[in-house]
Amino acid sequence: MDPLTEVTISLPTRRATQRFGATLAACLTAGDLVVLEGDLGAGKTFLVRSVARGLGVPAETAITSPTFTLVNEYVAALPLLHSDLYRLGGAGELVELGLTDRIGRDAVTLVEWGDRFSAALGDEGLWLWLAYAEPGRTLRMEARGARGRALLERVAEKLELGSGSDDDVDDDVNDDGPF
Ligand SMILES: Nc1ncnc2c1ncn2[C@@H]1O[C@H](COP(=O)(O)OP(=O)(O)O)[C@@H](O)[C@H]1O
Ligand SMILES: [Mg+2]
Repeated sequence: MDPLTEVTISLPTRRATQRFGATLAACLTAGDLVVLEGDLGAGKTFLVRSVARGLGVPAETAITSPTFTLVNEYVAALPLLHSDLYRLGGAGELVELGLTDRIGRDAVTLVEWGDRFSAALGDEGLWLWLAYAEPGRTLRMEARGARGRALLERVAEKLELGSGSDDDVDDDVNDDGPF
């Protein structure tokens, strides 16, 4: 029974990314960390926006890249932190941002360019690697740690990817999410 640790999906359209964001939102629990990687324009902020909408942040609230503020917080079904660490000098500055004491606790934390600081972020969660593709984008999901694997299992189940022949073992057959 190998736990699912990696899944790659195609996101051929912006709409597909929005739908995936809604699915991910439905799977998130307080304390979860999601790291987003991918070239400029690959769709990191767009995906965060889709997740935020899925968590109930209203359309009137603009979800913009926190490139300069480094972290934005939104009131949603769960407190939502959106960070972009592209300009962060070093891991020491993470503490001042107030991210590290929210991960694993009350908030859902989505971090663009977080992989550079994975150790300081706790190295536990779901890593999303976005890449340009034809058409659209591809998304590779990588689970790290128990929390990341649990989140990826929930996402895969909602996407109906399952975990192959192993999914009869630890199946949580509860499928009453909002979708
Ligand atoms: N699956 C997709 N197919 C095509 N275009 C997409 C897809 N997902 C997002 N986009 C577009 O790609 C751009 C991504 O920009 P942005 O999210 O700011 O990128 P990043 O934060 O990675 O620099 C947006 O213009 C968005 O409309
Ligand atoms: Mg961005």
